[in-house]
Amino acid sequence: MNITVTHKLATRLLEAGSEPVSGQQLADEFGVSRTAIWKHMKELEEMGYGIESVRKKGYRIQKSPDSLEAFLVQADLKTKKIGKRIEYMEQCASTQIVAHQLAQEGAPDGTVVIAELQTEGRGRLMRKWDSAKGQGIWMSIILRPDVPPHKAPQFTLVAAVAIVRAIQSVTGLEASIKWPNDILFGTKKATGILTELQSDADGIQALIIGIGVNVNQEREDFDAAVQDIATSLRLESGQPINRRELVQEILHFLEVYTELYIEKGFAPLKILWEGHSATIGKAIRARMSRETLEGIAEGITEDGVLQLRTADGKLHGIYSADIELK
Ligand code: BTN
Repeated sequence: MNITVTHKLATRLLEAGSEPVSGQQLADEFGVSRTAIWKHMKELEEMGYGIESVRKKGYRIQKSPDSLEAFLVQADLKTKKIGKRIEYMEQCASTQIVAHQLAQEGAPDGTVVIAELQTEGRGRLMRKWDSAKGQGIWMSIILRPDVPPHKAPQFTLVAAVAIVRAIQSVTGLEASIKWPNDILFGTKKATGILTELQSDADGIQALIIGIGVNVNQEREDFDAAVQDIATSLRLESGQPINRRELVQEILHFLEVYTELYIEKGFAPLKILWEGHSATIGKAIRARMSRETLEGIAEGITEDGVLQLRTADGKLHGIYSADIELK
């Protein structure tokens, strides 16, 4: 059986959504017999698809396999640029490493790297990021915006807004953002973002936005050390979540908000970010490499810098820190 035709058939049916497509039409489109189409449907069922045969109307897909293979993510993907190239891997050390390599080799703006499993997933401040097989979304996105390097941290905030909106659209859940890059439910973390930069004298060559979303883990799937501080969308919603749809929505909102950013600057994104913030107005502790400050988080500047007012009335700009909500 020709696997490319099977994949193309799956794409065709996924794009048709709830609308059945007749066997004859598929046979004509693919230039094969109706029997061949029927055989491909059986093949798709073996691959984990749920195919419904609607009397006199044709076939439609009820369920697709829980895989983030490129052709599945790209079927009915709404973006113009982000995700047009997707590198999918069953396993890698870290999608950040692969994305850095591809960016250096000239991969286009909007290239996405996705892995089912990372053996050396990394977080901010050189921390380890648990990336168990098939339970989350582990991906890195290469962007090539024409902005100066000091604006790079703003993209972490843009990505955070995009992820919160995507989670809301797919699950109905309202997450909040802890400055700069944690997406929380209550005090538990469901998502982290790691923005890295390739730049030279001419400016930003590539931004690598690493996104890790805990999607379908149960409590015991997390390391004992993080069970009380980590959560997943499944734990929050009480049901398994479709990872393919969530990836598509993240890529879609990331494109929408990066376009808005490029057109109108950070100001509209700042308003959106503040609307989802778990930090603003709260008493926090900010641990930095040289000092720790405590006070009230008053807001973020137009550049995405956190404004912290300490008890002595002084306002401090925080560029990078580990934040604890008190
Ligand atoms: C953090 O909260 O510290 C950031 C976590 C970022 C994790 C993602 S998973 C995909 C990409 N690959 C990595 O190794 N890290 C990022």
